[in-house]
Amino acid sequence: MADLAFVVPGVIAAAPMLVTSVSAVRYVRADRLGRAVLRKGWRIRFTWRRTALRCGLYQADQAAPAGGETLMMRSRDRLLIPRIAVAPGPNGLTVSVKTVGQVGLEDFERSADDLANAWRVRYLEASPARPGYLTLRVVLRDALRQRTLFVPSPDAPVDLRTWVLGVGRDGQPVKVRTAEVSGIAVGGLSGYGKTSLVYHRFATLAPSPLVQFALIDGKDFELSDLKARAYLHCGDDLDRAHHIVSQVHALYTDRKNAIRAVLRRRSFWAGDPIEAWPLTVLVIDEAHTFLHETKSTDPGAKDRNNRVRDIVGMLDELVRKGRTVGIQVMLLTQKPTGEAIPTTIRDNCQIALSFAQRSKEAAIAALGDDINDYPHAHPRRLQDPAYVGVVSVLAEGRPGYSLARIPYVTDRDAIALAASTAHLTADPRRLLAAALAPADTIPA
Ligand SMILES: Nc1ncnc2c1ncn2[C@@H]1O[C@H](COP(=O)(O)OP(=O)(O)OP(=O)(O)O)[C@@H](O)[C@H]1O
Ligand SMILES: [Mg+2]
Repeated sequence: MADLAFVVPGVIAAAPMLVTSVSAVRYVRADRLGRAVLRKGWRIRFTWRRTALRCGLYQADQAAPAGGETLMMRSRDRLLIPRIAVAPGPNGLTVSVKTVGQVGLEDFERSADDLANAWRVRYLEASPARPGYLTLRVVLRDALRQRTLFVPSPDAPVDLRTWVLGVGRDGQPVKVRTAEVSGIAVGGLSGYGKTSLVYHRFATLAPSPLVQFALIDGKDFELSDLKARAYLHCGDDLDRAHHIVSQVHALYTDRKNAIRAVLRRRSFWAGDPIEAWPLTVLVIDEAHTFLHETKSTDPGAKDRNNRVRDIVGMLDELVRKGRTVGIQVMLLTQKPTGEAIPTTIRDNCQIALSFAQRSKEAAIAALGDDINDYPHAHPRRLQDPAYVGVVSVLAEGRPGYSLARIPYVTDRDAIALAASTAHLTADPRRLLAAALAPADTIPA
């Protein structure tokens, strides 16, 4: 017993040394980023009390009597300062904060820039954790600023239900749920990556026979690389665009009437897809080209406006009801205000994405009012060449709006993928007709 009494205080005395030597070993073993993370972690821990006071992240304990001393002199029980625990996290650190009094998530969100400055880190994001706690993600290496490539493969597995857009600032995947989706609206200033996003979507879906594409290219030449893998394709010609939208709308009507007989369910997404009923993706790049009426009094203007109204009517129905029959519309335009995409169509798109935008109004048009509550993901902050290829989006499993770096698909890789998967291209209306035909009429 006497020995134990001697040993226990000895162990307690040795504990800090043990911790120090474990930390030292970890430091020596770490790579450059790992060491920077460890140094930053120590700094955050040791300066926390001072940082919290400077950033206003404390509350004077009204229950304790006030004295004449300065804030730094006040004892811990007279000032409520949130406790923190610091651990290495993806591309930086994760700081777990135990909230106190009235100091909570909102205060940390408001002070995120001040904390980032105090800690000299690129970026910091506060998010809720289990009750009474919140998490600060501290990023030392900003993955958004590092351009990446997506090298497609014709044999890659395809997930129709999820689209991994790329990575967030912390280097972790950012995904959106594409199941049960009939509309994807994309906005963003010229040259920030909208058409490249179509290439990315194409590259993730083209290897599957369960997907067919119809492509309308308002610039006439940007999507032509992909046409070998599209059952319908056109450039900026309004009549041809009208024809393609009519074809996809006719597919909607055919499928609506046949879904019970062929899929034996009410919704495309309620079971596994089949090749006779592929997910059909209609892409309209530079969508404003086809969706706004002209005020001109030229002889052809009336005819043109009739076609535009027709396209708008069909798209409206596809975006509202195409989900259950496996039709997805992707509309891209620079500034998705009401003049570019009628609001009835835009606001029914379940997924909204925005690259850089110049004005608050354009960002709201692209993403909705809520974007103002997430300043760190605001498209106005993306106006920097380093953020070409970065979108703001409501992503799965991340609170509020997040930013994602989209990996770039080169033209050469896109052309090669379209060529190597061209044999999968089929007209979904024909596939449906074949599935509905009596067995003895189907050619061997
Ligand atoms: N994800 C990305 N990663 C790296 N670079 C990119 C990315 N997306 C686009 N870029 C670069 O930006 C250029 C312009 O992109 P893109 O043509 O997609 O812009 P856009 O938004 O469609 O422009 P516009 O509105 O004029 O059609 C590309 O040629 C490429 O060099
Ligand atoms: Mg473009």
